Amino acid sequence: MPDTLTPPDALTKIAYQTFQQGKQVFGFAHKTLSTQFLNTLSQKKRQEPNPPDPKMLQALQSRIDALLKVDWEDAEKGVYPKQSLFENNWNDFFRYYPELWIDLPKIWDRANQKRHQDFSEGISTEGYPAYYVQNFHHQTDGYFSEASANMYDLQVEVLFNGTAAPMRRRILAPLKQHMNRMPVAVGTTPQPRKVLDIACGTGNSLQLINQAMPDVALYGVDLSPAYIRKAYENLADIKGTAPAQLIQANAEELPFVNEFFEATTSTFLFHELPAQARQNVIDEAFRVTKPGGVFVICDSVQTIDTPEFEPLMENFPAMFHEPYYRHYIQDDLVARLESAGFSEVETFTHFMSKYWVAKKS
Ligand SMILES: C[S@@+](CC[C@H](N)C(=O)[O-])C[C@H]1O[C@@H](n2cnc3c(N)ncnc32)[C@H](O)[C@@H]1O
Repeated sequence: MPDTLTPPDALTKIAYQTFQQGKQVFGFAHKTLSTQFLNTLSQKKRQEPNPPDPKMLQALQSRIDALLKVDWEDAEKGVYPKQSLFENNWNDFFRYYPELWIDLPKIWDRANQKRHQDFSEGISTEGYPAYYVQNFHHQTDGYFSEASANMYDLQVEVLFNGTAAPMRRRILAPLKQHMNRMPVAVGTTPQPRKVLDIACGTGNSLQLINQAMPDVALYGVDLSPAYIRKAYENLADIKGTAPAQLIQANAEELPFVNEFFEATTSTFLFHELPAQARQNVIDEAFRVTKPGGVFVICDSVQTIDTPEFEPLMENFPAMFHEPYYRHYIQDDLVARLESAGFSEVETFTHFMSKYWVAKKS
């Protein structure tokens, strides 16, 4: 990174910091106001079990600052264009933010009454794995409706105070580095390199991969048809060689032939899977990745990395219905990746996320 910034760069950096600070303030304000709103509506005071102490809040803030610093530095290095730091789906924000408030009392009731399998009339949950038929995050309709898909990104944005994209972007540097190192087959017509995002949700990570590597062909799978539809909407305007190909499928049985992708990725899936499903998905990622390829995972930090956040991690599954989180934070994903056949697994953390970069030799 250069010691001095040229004026336009310095301005862009300040704009980026201001943009992110705005998101943090918005996230805090939303959480504070929504708690007050629910307390006013309800007789039962919303309990915040073990509120974080000031030292922990300070530690969290310095991890956010460090994350944003790396985010800016990777843009400076050209991992992705600086303008992508400012991408925000304003249309969805203005359209769906009021719905977050309308939905709040329903979420609150569901949480209080511990109704974890509560779906609107007409929603069919038939044929889905039992572990998936849940109101994760007490979310209305779980992952089963258009309304849920429309609100999901805003809910995540508020939960992480605007750091979800910077956390997801941390998969890009290792992904790009490994893909650029892969040899091109001699004597064959060059084909676009292919990346599969497993549990692509509304397409966030695919959008980021496209910004960093517009020449890569994008593939995504997710169990939710509503989220796949939303991902198609979000990826409609991407610049690249071909439109994204998204398929509704269980990641435990990926609908692709062996060794089809140069790389596979997954963001924020594993904490929502029971142990055996975690292993099945990793085995499948190994099967569909080419030799020499890479699998990059981003998910929540684990106890071993950040014991100082243990109280926070203890609160998380209780406050946001996350039935597999407690097991996940103790799970050894390196061992799982190695048992599938991956090697040279590297791990690192940023803010509240952990990353695994696993090679297939
Ligand atoms: C927390 S969201 C993460 C979505 C997205 N990757 C992101 O970064 O925002 C978890 C996603 O995993 C999907 N999912 C859960 N279990 C799955 C499975 N067995 N196969 C495919 N998708 C699954 C859900 O439908 C949901 O979209």
